[in-house]
Amino acid sequence: MSDTFFKEKKPWSKYKDFILDYYLTPYIAKVKYLKRPILIIDCCAGPGKFEDGTEGSPLIITKHIVESRNNGIDIKGLFLEKQKKYFKNLENLMMPHSDYIMVHQTDFTGYLSKIAGMAKSHTVFLYVDPYGIKELPFEELAIIYEQINKSGSSVEVLMNFNSAGFVRCGLVSLKMESIIPDSELTEEFYDEPIADIQGMTPEQMDEIAGGNYWKNVVVDTNLSFAEKEREIGKLYAKQMNKYYPITVDYPVKAKYHHKAPKYRLIYGTRHSDGIFLMNDIMYDARERFLISEFSDGKLFDTRPVEEEKNMAVFTKYLYEIISREQPITRKFVKLAAMQEFFCRYKTGDYSEAIRNLLKGFEGLRIFSKSGKTKINDEELLSTKQFK
Ligand SMILES: C[S@@+](CC[C@H](N)C(=O)[O-])C[C@H]1O[C@@H](n2cnc3c(N)ncnc32)[C@H](O)[C@@H]1O
Repeated sequence: MSDTFFKEKKPWSKYKDFILDYYLTPYIAKVKYLKRPILIIDCCAGPGKFEDGTEGSPLIITKHIVESRNNGIDIKGLFLEKQKKYFKNLENLMMPHSDYIMVHQTDFTGYLSKIAGMAKSHTVFLYVDPYGIKELPFEELAIIYEQINKSGSSVEVLMNFNSAGFVRCGLVSLKMESIIPDSELTEEFYDEPIADIQGMTPEQMDEIAGGNYWKNVVVDTNLSFAEKEREIGKLYAKQMNKYYPITVDYPVKAKYHHKAPKYRLIYGTRHSDGIFLMNDIMYDARERFLISEFSDGKLFDTRPVEEEKNMAVFTKYLYEIISREQPITRKFVKLAAMQEFFCRYKTGDYSEAIRNLLKGFEGLRIFSKSGKTKINDEELLSTKQFK
């Protein structure tokens, strides 16, 4: 894979760029108030540019850094790449930015303890985009995550986790059949070279997963391949939950009808603001995908009904949360509902649904502590009138 990866950017790779690019602007605007220098780290930077001329993640990040520095923000970049040929390109490309972009030819796993040290004095955004799961040792990444608990610094992570590759790698490591059954195959989905999933021991898989929970899943003959992939994605995100109270993932598919995604973008944060921003950005990414699959070049949007928004169902779901947890702030209603509806509704939809409930919606009514219908996230809500 490595020799051809940077020839041209694949359509599904563009989703991670979109999400990274759109997230960085509001992210920097928020964290600058933490009054610490900001460091954006690209752990698997690549050459910076694809052969077809498309920008790689280092150029996307640099654009944001330059713009922010022009606005007086103390922000730098650290780009790590282990392969010499890609590193040379990266180094040349970053030459004009050498005052604020550091580049190192190194394996990022050997650099993690240094990064953990930097997290003591910096606000850190970590972007981890390896080819596959082999380069993603959870236990080593956890050193940085641990730093969060110790120093109270802000460290967010956005990573590309190839959960389908993980399932196949896990099966091979247990000397089991890793071929996906024909009924689960969807054209070009099965393009992972066999060499990329070979050569791992179960112990090495434990290190990548951060535990041995994966074994029960991959050997479960009652689960289809797609179900195993989903379960592994869920359990991996749960491991990250030990360090990040809020962890979400976005499955990036090449085609809608594919049963398993190409990869999952996993995002971890400690801040509700981060998750609300990411929800809206991943909502937009998902909309783009649905439009390209079901609307582009067609007279009507032909998306399946389960992909349509249903504000009535959504509003009733929010009402249930409020009646169960009352009194509860609007922020916690949003956070609770996002577990179920992540990237399916925008934060504006949450506000609209709650506003409708405050006015009365299909026989349901809630009340705000202030008695107002125009409220902010800190406002307490209940199905009973406040005294
Ligand atoms: C998927 S590509 C990254 C693409 C890049 N994020 C972009 O959008 O332009 C993975 C890159 O990470 C590098 N890499 C893989 N494992 C690494 C490691 N442990 N440390 C540093 N670089 C690594 C590979 O050589 C490759 O250039």
